[in-house]
Amino acid sequence: MDPRILKKMRSDWEDRAKENAQYYVQNERKKWEQRDFFRSGEINVANEVMTDMVAICGGQRSPLDLRMLEIGCGVGRMTRMLSTIFGKVTGVDISDEMIRQARANTSDLSNVDLVVGDGCTLTALPDAAYDFAFSFIVFQHIPAYPVIASYCREVFRVLQPGGLFKFQVQGHTGLRRSEMDTWLGYPVSPTEAERLAAESGFAIERQDGAGTQWYWLWFRKPK
Ligand SMILES: C[S@@+](CC[C@H](N)C(=O)[O-])C[C@H]1O[C@@H](n2cnc3c(N)ncnc32)[C@H](O)[C@@H]1O
Repeated sequence: MDPRILKKMRSDWEDRAKENAQYYVQNERKKWEQRDFFRSGEINVANEVMTDMVAICGGQRSPLDLRMLEIGCGVGRMTRMLSTIFGKVTGVDISDEMIRQARANTSDLSNVDLVVGDGCTLTALPDAAYDFAFSFIVFQHIPAYPVIASYCREVFRVLQPGGLFKFQVQGHTGLRRSEMDTWLGYPVSPTEAERLAAESGFAIERQDGAGTQWYWLWFRKPK
């Protein structure tokens, strides 16, 4: 792993968080009303998580019995809503300032834990501690394949056997970008998605949106 990439990701996201965290989390608006900002997170959870409960819960368990991990939780825009669905939510982010704001935004919630991560591993988290891992509009910003591959290995480690990792990546491989660009991240092709799964031990259960910004991957850890 090139340490310059980790350094750049951290400093760029720290600057963005200090400048205008809500805008860089959801750049539809420069200035958000608090209520609308969190409502946008609720809508994303409704569309990307609540529609997928059979895959997430296996059709037998209640989500309230599940522990979930959110990679790149930002200021807790989706975390708040996720905490009403799942028993326990752990959010990880590379930026201290994002996590500081996320803590303030979730201080009334007893089932949320927030952790500043190193940008490529989950070393603070124990093995097999989670049932479901999720990430939205985060990997699309990650500039390098090895960082994505490292997260896949780490999510495999922290998931229970049978657990699901659902995440969205940039799939538009025709994008022109520089190697250290922490906004336009590394675009993942379907062949690379297969490699990511195979190298970390996951099976690809489903994929959708290849070739677009909304390339979703469902990686299942075998039982
Ligand atoms: C566009 S925001 C989305 C935040 C959140 N997922 C949401 O939808 O509200 C991207 C977030 O990913 C975080 N991030 C960027 N690169 C990361 C990395 N390598 N590891 C962990 N978090 C990262 C940023 O600090 C930022 O909080």
